[in-house]
Amino acid sequence: MKKLSRVLLFISAIAIPVFAYAQKNGQNVYSGQHQMPHLEKQGKTTQLIIDDKPFLILGGELGNSSFTSVEYMEPIWPILKTMNMNTVLAPVYWELIEPAEGKFDFELLDQLIREARNNDLKIVLLWFGSWKNSMSSHAPPWVKKNQARFPRIKDDKGISHEILTPFSENNLQADLKAYQALMKHIKETDGNDHTVIMIQTENEIGMLPTARDYSLMANEKFQENVPAELMQYLESNKENLVPEFSEIWGESGFKNSGTWEEVFGKGPQTDEIFMAWYFSKYANSVVKTGKAEYPLPMYVNAALNRPQSKPGISYPSGGPLPHLMDIWKAGGPSIDFLSPDFYFPDLKHWCDLYTRQGNPLFIPEHRFDNTVAAKAAYSIGHYESIGFAPFSVESSGNPENEPLGKMYNVIDQLTPIITTHQGLDKIEGVLLDKQNQETVFQMGNYEFKVRHSYTLGYENNSRNDTWDMAGAIFVQTGDDEFYIAGSGIFITFKNLSNPSLNVGILKVDEGRFENNNEWKIIRHLNGDQTHQGRHVRIFLDSYSILRFKLYNYD
Ligand code: DGJ
Repeated sequence: MKKLSRVLLFISAIAIPVFAYAQKNGQNVYSGQHQMPHLEKQGKTTQLIIDDKPFLILGGELGNSSFTSVEYMEPIWPILKTMNMNTVLAPVYWELIEPAEGKFDFELLDQLIREARNNDLKIVLLWFGSWKNSMSSHAPPWVKKNQARFPRIKDDKGISHEILTPFSENNLQADLKAYQALMKHIKETDGNDHTVIMIQTENEIGMLPTARDYSLMANEKFQENVPAELMQYLESNKENLVPEFSEIWGESGFKNSGTWEEVFGKGPQTDEIFMAWYFSKYANSVVKTGKAEYPLPMYVNAALNRPQSKPGISYPSGGPLPHLMDIWKAGGPSIDFLSPDFYFPDLKHWCDLYTRQGNPLFIPEHRFDNTVAAKAAYSIGHYESIGFAPFSVESSGNPENEPLGKMYNVIDQLTPIITTHQGLDKIEGVLLDKQNQETVFQMGNYEFKVRHSYTLGYENNSRNDTWDMAGAIFVQTGDDEFYIAGSGIFITFKNLSNPSLNVGILKVDEGRFENNNEWKIIRHLNGDQTHQGRHVRIFLDSYSILRFKLYNYD
């Protein structure tokens, strides 16, 4: 980055925050401090701003029970640090913070937040409140044992399950008060430090084992007309609804009033829409009350559905899924975004679906497999995601050599360059393997053809049946200047504005960003490393940052 623009960035980073914060929140308690964590638009992209700077979550989610004692977490902190994470996604259990009604105990949470701060890690707290993977296993005993006051869902055979019904005001009020107390406490104890940067409200909400709740309260609501609030939303957004949903509504003739079955037809699709509406309203009330205390960004996550699978039977019905996005946006205006949890392989398919309707992409869970390093780079490069986090990251047996840690290291170094150029059509990402060996895209006046490095046939494993995934982020920083961070790719170029011109490589440097983001060259790459000027390349087993310049000749 040029010196002058760095200075300007620095000045704006210190000048805008205090002013912007006072404008936005008008609360004296924070005056003179950094702005609180929030989302902000830059061009087409939504950025997460932490302490006045755009932040990329290079995260890892903990296994469900790890964050429940200081002792258990002690050996985990160094694992997270070794993998170059800047954020840990960690649950906060309703049962632990409110063991008796109205009596809150935040001691453990406070200690863990302090530990995270001492380790220079940010936290995304996961509120395991009314629902955790559909179930209500984290509700406190005084809720679980009082079914009359805190009613459960019933399936179509009238059997109750350990799932709080979203149709009960008592359930909502109990969850909401706990969440409110939690947010108040975080504001009081972390309002200046901003160790906690975002909240996931509930976890993988959805209805099992039937597509809808058949409890008395649910049945009554199901017989009523579709609420006017939802009908009005659908009417005014009719032309822009996601096609899967529009198709369902269209099949019953886009009726604008009537019962659920009159408007959307009879069948599991309607049961699911009905649940999605009441789940989203419930989650929205929790979020809204929490934000009134302390307005951190708040999102909900979804267990994905396999194509053609049945709601309530093979996946939790009514969660924040792509085909229900419009319902969730209508019922959950206070919820900042909907996020996918990845336990299926097809990242591109789901990310394409989750980036509709202006939804910013954040990936809070991905199976911790050997694709995560490449996918972290791809999601940040191609979708300009807020961040990425594999699940159960503390299970790494070899954090020093974890590809994810190596990838996070280079992304972390490049973060100021990435975030400066987000939303401006200057960033791309690639994800390549044996099935998808190459991709072509435009950067400025150039066409980049990016291939998996094994396609050259030099590397030892290139004859294997499967290829390790390659992933990289590209940033255009000048007309002819670019950075790449990643692994396993080689690139050739064409001039798009004047195809009769050849494109040559003027200079390729491998380097790193040191203190104050100074670019330090480690190697000047040429000769065999650029195939004598024919391409720019990073081997699959190395994770590097390259800066290169192109030029044109007749
Ligand atoms: C998705 C959930 O959100 C996580 O909490 C965890 O249960 C994983 N599934 C699988 O273990």
